[in-house]
Amino acid sequence: MARLVINEEKKIGRIEPEVYGHFSEHLGRCIYEGIYVGENSEIPNVNGMRSDVVGALKELKVPVLRWPGGCFADEYHWKDGIGPRENRKKMINTHWGGVVEDNSFGTHEFMELCSQIGCTNYINGNLGSGTVQEMSEWVEYMTFNGVSPMADLRKENGREEPWTVDFFGVGNENWGCGGNMTPEHYANEYRRYQTYVRNYDKKHPIKKVCCGANVDDYYWTEGVLKTAFANTEDQFHGFMDYLSLHYYVHPEGWEIKGSATDFDDEVWYKTLNKALYMEELIQGHSAIMDQYDPEKKIGLSVDEWGSWYTCEPGTNPGFLYQQNTVRDALIAGITLNIFNKHCDRVKMAALAQMVNVLQAVLLTEGEQMIKTPTYHVMHMYRYHQGADLLQSAVTGIDNIGPEKWNVPKITESVSMDGDGVITVTLNNLSIEASEEIDIQFANKGHQLREAKIVTHPDMHAKNTFDAPKEVEERDFDGCNVSESGISFVMPKNSVVEIRVS
Ligand code: AHR
Repeated sequence: MARLVINEEKKIGRIEPEVYGHFSEHLGRCIYEGIYVGENSEIPNVNGMRSDVVGALKELKVPVLRWPGGCFADEYHWKDGIGPRENRKKMINTHWGGVVEDNSFGTHEFMELCSQIGCTNYINGNLGSGTVQEMSEWVEYMTFNGVSPMADLRKENGREEPWTVDFFGVGNENWGCGGNMTPEHYANEYRRYQTYVRNYDKKHPIKKVCCGANVDDYYWTEGVLKTAFANTEDQFHGFMDYLSLHYYVHPEGWEIKGSATDFDDEVWYKTLNKALYMEELIQGHSAIMDQYDPEKKIGLSVDEWGSWYTCEPGTNPGFLYQQNTVRDALIAGITLNIFNKHCDRVKMAALAQMVNVLQAVLLTEGEQMIKTPTYHVMHMYRYHQGADLLQSAVTGIDNIGPEKWNVPKITESVSMDGDGVITVTLNNLSIEASEEIDIQFANKGHQLREAKIVTHPDMHAKNTFDAPKEVEERDFDGCNVSESGISFVMPKNSVVEIRVS
């Protein structure tokens, strides 16, 4: 039996809503088809945005959306994506499938999408192949409220009022697709470019994201921070609000990756073991950040995370389209619990990617849309957004799986919202056995408000366009409530959410 002890009196810190963020790149069928179909499409839409997709994303309470990339960001020239659509430049999307990008989805469309979803925006600028002037003018175009060349251009294009820009990334993966730079070179460029990301709206300063490491590249983190902090006053904290981190789970490594749906028991545990590696990465990068930023003013933004498998047979390999199973539900549950537990440093994150790409929450085919197992987990976890992490610990569990890919059987995190409602999220990583869970609270007399579960006896289970509801969030009926706690049997392969007041 596993015992989960929760101390409601001990609040550890706030789980920022942005930790539950998403990422949408001009890649494959994410933006085009998945989100944007154009005003003349037969698929129901509002101003070109699919109504089914926007509706599902609103239910998810998406807090922030990152755009336009990814690798695409450092080849994107924003002026190509404004003005009358028929005049917009066409380009080849060299990174992703070599298809024609007609720029029909640009700045105005992205801002419209965020307003329909009701989320904040995270725009990723082009440092790799764009100029300082180009980046600076984009910010002016979006946010300047007055007479200026870019503000006038925005008005000519039909937008009188400036928008608010919430987060701005100064380059993406500049150690790789964003220019193959050294950390010192990038950090100097970062210092220069970010200078011209001006805060025209003093009441709403733009939060700047500096490009951080790939996986365990601690050399990058150290080099970037050393240069960014050199010869500056403390209050500039390296000119950044966030430092990013990208980490994908490839069951069989970067070259082979592995199938999304066809895997054996060993690969199940291998995959989850790799998902758990996120914890070590956060600790490693945080330890370096602590040296420069002991007060933790800079957030770690894990703004690309999730599974990355071999793409679905018969699809364009450059489109990164993959299916999503119960295994992905566990990856999401495990990772989000890790983020919650590290809320002192992890202040933003973005699952890659939102629709039709990698560990997507939604898949579309023509006018059909399905929710993936990952969607349902993110939906159950939405209550953690903006809540306070509570002290909690699980005891009495064994490590399971093959020796090389050992994982703890149960992972958890617990938070309390502003109304005092407690949300507990648990994962059972075993494909062999259920687990009896005994939750004990410090205070007595809690009332059960809700219990939900995402599970399936078959670890390969997934949703398809023919069977869209195979894996979904369901009511979980097995809870026994006592004066001091709640007990239940947690099925194998499951993610559970329990709310008490
Ligand atoms: O999400 C797919 C790609 O992965 C992104 O474009 C890039 O930033 C990362 O390497």
